Order: sequence, then C-alpha cells, then structure tokens
Amino acid sequence: MLAIDAAVVTKVYKGAHQAALSEVSLKVERGKVFTLLGRNGAGKTTFVRMCATQLTPTSGNISVLGYDVTRQAKQIRNLISIVPQEGRPLRALTSWDHVYNWLQIRGEGKRVANEKTEEILRKLELYEARDRPAMNLSGGMKQKILVAMAMATDAQLLFLDEPTIGLDPVSRRQVWSAIKDWKSKGGSILLTTHYMDEAELLSDYIVIINRGTVIAQGTIQELRRVIPQNTRVDISRDGLDIEVLRPYGSVVDTGAGMLRVFAFESAVHELSELALRKNLSFTVSPVTLDDVFVYLVGGGIGDDQNGRY
Ligand SMILES: Nc1ncnc2c1ncn2[C@@H]1O[C@H](COP(=O)(O)OP(=O)(O)O)[C@@H](O)[C@H]1O
Ligand SMILES: [Mg+2]
Repeated sequence: MLAIDAAVVTKVYKGAHQAALSEVSLKVERGKVFTLLGRNGAGKTTFVRMCATQLTPTSGNISVLGYDVTRQAKQIRNLISIVPQEGRPLRALTSWDHVYNWLQIRGEGKRVANEKTEEILRKLELYEARDRPAMNLSGGMKQKILVAMAMATDAQLLFLDEPTIGLDPVSRRQVWSAIKDWKSKGGSILLTTHYMDEAELLSDYIVIINRGTVIAQGTIQELRRVIPQNTRVDISRDGLDIEVLRPYGSVVDTGAGMLRVFAFESAVHELSELALRKNLSFTVSPVTLDDVFVYLVGGGIGDDQNGRY
C-alpha cells in the first residue's frame, strides 16, 4: 500500500482564474521522506492540505494510506499528523502542555503521553523551556513546538509543510535529526521545502513542482541527470560577451557577477582555455540540485510574484 496515491489531481480555488494545482499525479511510498520542492506559490501547501483532508480536490483522486480523502477523511485523520505552514502555538500555553494535551486528544494515556512529551521536547531542545508560555518564546521555538506536537504522535504519515522556515541553523539540524529518527522508526513523511540543502539532505525522492504542475521527479541522482550537460563552469562576467559562451552549453546569469555554463565534460577544456586567455577566474564542479532546479524553473527560488510565500 502506498502512503499517498494521487491521480490527476487539480485544485482551482474559488474565484481563482488559474488552477493552483493542475493534473498532478504522484505516488508516495511508505517509510520514505518524499519531498515537494518548489518556489513560493508553486502549489505545495495546496497538495499537502488536500492529502491531509483539509481541502477537497476540484477533480482527480487522492488516497492516503489506502483511504480516499473525500469519502474516508475520518480514517485518514487518525493516521496522519501535520505541521501546517502557517500554524501558531497558543500564546498562553506552555510547550509541555501543547504536546501533552495533543497526545491526550489523540487518545494516549497519561503515562505514555508524559514519556513521549518528555522525549520529543528533549530531542528538539524545548525541554528547558517546557514551562514557559509560548508567547515568551522565540519564533524558532514556537515553530519547534508545532514540530514536537506532530512528531510526538504515533501517526503513520507525517506532513511537514516548510517546517524549518525561520529556524536558526542549530534548530534546523535538530528538526532534521528528528525527521531522520521518525523515518528510522518506519514512519512516512511528506516534506515540502524551498531549501535545496534540506531537500538534498533528507529526501529519498523529490518532486519538483512549478506553477501547479510536476516538472521533474526522481532520486537526487536521477534529478542530476536532468541536465544533459552535467558539468558546471562558473566564469567571472567581467566584460565577457554571453554569446561567446553559448556554443559550449546553456548559459545562466548567476546574478553575482558570474556566468554559469552547463557544459558537457568534453567542452570544459576549451572553456577553461577561453577563461585563462581573457584572464577571467573560473571554477568547475558537478551540477547540484540547485542547478537542476534553476535549469528547470529558470531563475532563483526566491519569492514568486504571484505567490503568497
Ligand atoms: N485559499 C486560497 N485561495 C485562493 N488562492 C490560493 C489559496 N491558497 C493558495 N492560493 C494560491 O494557489 C497557488 C499555490 O499556493 P500554495 O499551495 O500555497 O503554494 P506553496 O505552498 O508552494 O507556496 C498560489 O498561486 C496561491 O496564491
Ligand atoms: Mg506553502
């Protein structure tokens, strides 16, 4: 059985001119970290919310852990847990109470709820601050409370919608480590992110979505091969005519005074000679997930004009 099986799913929000998601088909295996990677406004949250039974698809079918999202939402809700993108903890409630109460609502007894609350609060370094009301905690700690709530449960499938936004580097690593723990216990995860390092580090499988459609998917290794010219050569732009580089491969302006050429390995030698002749600095490296993304989507991962986030 799949964690998620989405078939030709389209979502058009009420009053919207364009579909937020258009004919998306995805199969998410169990026991894996499955990542939706896309710019702000790509449709990631829309997909997550439909799978989590918070929104209904306009057309198409989604089954989650074998249950249909429209007809069997109740069964699904007992088996999933979600860290929503725009979630906020309750101001006056402590981190301990957030997690503990949530576990009780989900049917855990007192002893187990106590144990699990302590375990996850320690893991995410919230334990010291367990008795402080959420309103007195930093933004990052508030976000970690939501992650703790979702991860303390024994749900089979966890939805993490941009879980590390606004976190400092240490907290990000704590969340990453908790994600790995969750997976090692056999849990499944649907992660959304626009951070390349996060996607590269955690994902077993990545789906790149752009403007509501799936434009590429695969393991990291498979995605790297999306770019036929698998070597990147960065050359300082200094007075260099972009046209001179075009015969060697596809050229991207990195915006930092550098031009990036995606070239076949065989062209690298000539390119380096050209750079040396013109006295321009250059570096050669294999393509990264970031390159694949830019190659496919064009431009950076920054805010989409049409997107809310
Ligand atoms: N409640 C809503 N009503 C109307 N349009 C929405 C709503 N939520 C999202 N959208 C639009 O749907 C598209 C996808 O949004 P979203 O799923 O939030 O993208 P992401 O999570 O990838 O940033 C965007 O164009 C966004 O503006
Ligand atoms: Mg989102």
